[in-house]
Amino acid sequence: MTDPVTNSATNPELAATVHHSGGSYPVIAGWGVIDRLGEHLTELGLGPTAYIVTDENVMRPYGRRAQWALQRAGIAAHCFVIPAGETSKSFAQAQEIYEWLVGLKAERGQPIIAIGGGVAGDLGGFVASTFLRGVPFVQVPTSMAAMVDASIGGKVAVNLPQAKNMVGAFYQPRAVLADVQSLATLGKRELSEGWAEAIKHGLIIDPSLVDVFEEHAAALMDVEPEISTEVIRRSMAIKADVVSQDERETLGVRILLNYGHTIGHALEASTEYGRFMHGEGVSVGMMGAARIAREMGMIGDDVIDRQRRLLQRFNLPITAANVDLDDVRRAMSLDKKTVGGANRWVLLEDVGQATVRRDVPTELVDDTLAWLTG
Ligand SMILES: NC(=O)c1ccc[n+]([C@@H]2O[C@H](COP(=O)([O-])OP(=O)(O)OC[C@H]3O[C@@H](n4cnc5c(N)ncnc54)[C@H](O)[C@@H]3O)[C@@H](O)[C@H]2O)c1
Repeated sequence: MTDPVTNSATNPELAATVHHSGGSYPVIAGWGVIDRLGEHLTELGLGPTAYIVTDENVMRPYGRRAQWALQRAGIAAHCFVIPAGETSKSFAQAQEIYEWLVGLKAERGQPIIAIGGGVAGDLGGFVASTFLRGVPFVQVPTSMAAMVDASIGGKVAVNLPQAKNMVGAFYQPRAVLADVQSLATLGKRELSEGWAEAIKHGLIIDPSLVDVFEEHAAALMDVEPEISTEVIRRSMAIKADVVSQDERETLGVRILLNYGHTIGHALEASTEYGRFMHGEGVSVGMMGAARIAREMGMIGDDVIDRQRRLLQRFNLPITAANVDLDDVRRAMSLDKKTVGGANRWVLLEDVGQATVRRDVPTELVDDTLAWLTG
């Protein structure tokens, strides 16, 4: 029998289906999806009680609406509101949620629904993966990073004081339900940095998506419903396809999503996460990677210029003045994707075509960092 949720003929909001070792799940994106959350959960066979984990910024505009939507479908929804921000991805916060669930006598078949950015998703998923040895989990991403990246692929985690995402699991959600309308309440800077990740998807895999970004930059920055929904769906589909091919990041496919991240992460870490938003670091990092690729003869000036112009149209930074190069290099040497001491670089061979290289000379990296920060 065809599943109504994962059948694109009957579900026009279906962006993709993620396939993993334990089954599959739908990735749905649409305008106003939160108001239809009850129907979606009912189709997935989840209920009659659900536990929402959200943050203090997202609760009022979206958590409450989700609660009403679930109640209309006969699903009782309890809400746990965490403080907004990265510090909530902690064991202490997870412990509070476990105790709240125990207090409400939560049972094994009842879902946890994370509504919010990547923090609510990673933390809610971590709790779902461990509470009662695993309860059903649903992702309702409301930030751009969460929609096109964090909610898809099953990585859940909390941070340790020493480093981010140090304790976690691969725990796949039962569904990802993204309400594109929620992007309209993001600030302009948050929107820009979020689009950086989606632009990255085009640059590494889908040249026609890059065309769409070029043609509709202004409309996307205004979150116009039709084009924004289309681009979010396409971007989610790319992430879904990549994680379906390489569920546990062992086959060298998922690493392509790291385009721009080697330098980007290092810029974020070396400035103590206070100066660059993640997508801004990735934007500068993509420029660094493009220069490396050009110097290695992999691409010409046309590709690097095209990438630069596109990032600028989304008000993204393409250089990083006044950073301490020693700090950046130190942060790069701690990159989790390092193997045997050598960074694995994701580099473009063309627009929409990326590959992994381990033979980037240290001098070229140093030159490129100086070029970016000079
Ligand atoms: N699991 C993964 O594969 C994966 C991938 C990428 C990032 N992450 C994680 O995701 C986190 C970053 O995600 P993030 O940028 O969404 O962070 P976040 O969850 O902290 O959200 C950023 C801010 O936006 C607010 N917000 C969210 N949606 C909003 C909306 N629609 N309108 C207005 N404000 C809104 C939040 O309250 C928060 O203040 C990091 O912890 C990172 O490690 C995980």
